[in-house]
Amino acid sequence: MKNIAIMGYGTIGSGVAEVLERNSEMIAKRVGDKVEVKYVLDLREFPGDPMEKRIVHDFSVIEKDSEVSMVIETMGGLNPAYPFVKASLEAGKHVATSNKALVAAYGTELLEIAREHNVNFFFEASVGGGIPIIRPLYTSLAGEEIEEITGILNGTTNYILTKMDKAGETFEAALRKAQELGYAERNPEADVEGHDTCRKIAILTAVATGHEVNYEHIYTEGITKITDVDFRYADAMGTSVKLFGSSRIREGIAHAFVAPVMIGKDHPLYSVNDVYNGILVKGNMLGTSMFYGSGAGKLPTASAVAADIIEALKDNGRHVEMGWDRESLAFSAIDSFSFRYFVRIKGIAEKRMKEVEEVFGKVEVVELDHMDEFAVLTEVMTEEEYEEKAKKLSGIRQRIRAELNANK
Ligand code: HSE
Repeated sequence: MKNIAIMGYGTIGSGVAEVLERNSEMIAKRVGDKVEVKYVLDLREFPGDPMEKRIVHDFSVIEKDSEVSMVIETMGGLNPAYPFVKASLEAGKHVATSNKALVAAYGTELLEIAREHNVNFFFEASVGGGIPIIRPLYTSLAGEEIEEITGILNGTTNYILTKMDKAGETFEAALRKAQELGYAERNPEADVEGHDTCRKIAILTAVATGHEVNYEHIYTEGITKITDVDFRYADAMGTSVKLFGSSRIREGIAHAFVAPVMIGKDHPLYSVNDVYNGILVKGNMLGTSMFYGSGAGKLPTASAVAADIIEALKDNGRHVEMGWDRESLAFSAIDSFSFRYFVRIKGIAEKRMKEVEEVFGKVEVVELDHMDEFAVLTEVMTEEEYEEKAKKLSGIRQRIRAELNANK
């Protein structure tokens, strides 16, 4: 029998217990032994729950119990997740976590401690919910020099943007629904301001390059400024707006950002809707491949944790070498990145076009009926160039980066 402990009995923690119960026979076969949840650490009581009798409130019970060979961290946040995970690894226990904030902030150190203690620190569930992406990057794509990872990495914001786009829902109503469905972070600001996507693209970039990534170096912009009016234009243009986390690696330097991007129907991520996530990975030999699936939610995320449990406990728990080194990856500033720009401008297109073209050069114009404004789509230019030009034009109401082919 392999005993494990789950820390945090919320959406994901209870999902892990459920997956272990429902797939128990298959998991036992793959591990080579029965996997039993011995403790569940939570501040709350759960009367009537199948785990009721296994609830503990004191981490040291888990830490000191030598029968517990693995700890599952599904608490979220850094405190007390970080000290508890660190102590678990130091006590010679494997750890699997769904906590991207923890991995992005302390991954380098925790991977080192795991290596020193001959145990595993796994985090498949921290990016893309149930989508296999961390392990495929280490194994199936091991022969590739990764040139780009671009993903829709946050289920909550993708759900909100999809509802605003397809059902005309307000931002607030869609967010509430995402929270009810268990997609959102405890503090949804982490979702809507792009911080969750930032942590996830940081982890993917570290895995892909083998170097430590400081997520604070990644330019991050959320979706709170995207409005229903933007989607009316997008609809007229046959485009959509998605929150991208992206790293494009050129000569050892990462060009990484998190921001809403307007894309067309020909973009592979265009059809990634609702809570689904999609991750494009471009390798120097393979070209582009895409990973797609449920990016958040109880059972999909718990399924990824269950896979980590099997991987850590099978073969008598050997250490699997994966991770990144302490050498920090270099990042370039967003000023040098190039995009097209969707810009909404106050006034009547006919009257202002000369002025607009003097500032931006050639543009495509989009007009909606009964509006006191119009929109243009610029040619490709750097952020620095855009900012310089935009200063010269009054009445700019919105600017969204666009990755659209000309005349589409
Ligand atoms: N809040 C996150 C999301 C949970 O919506 O994607 C999964 O990481």
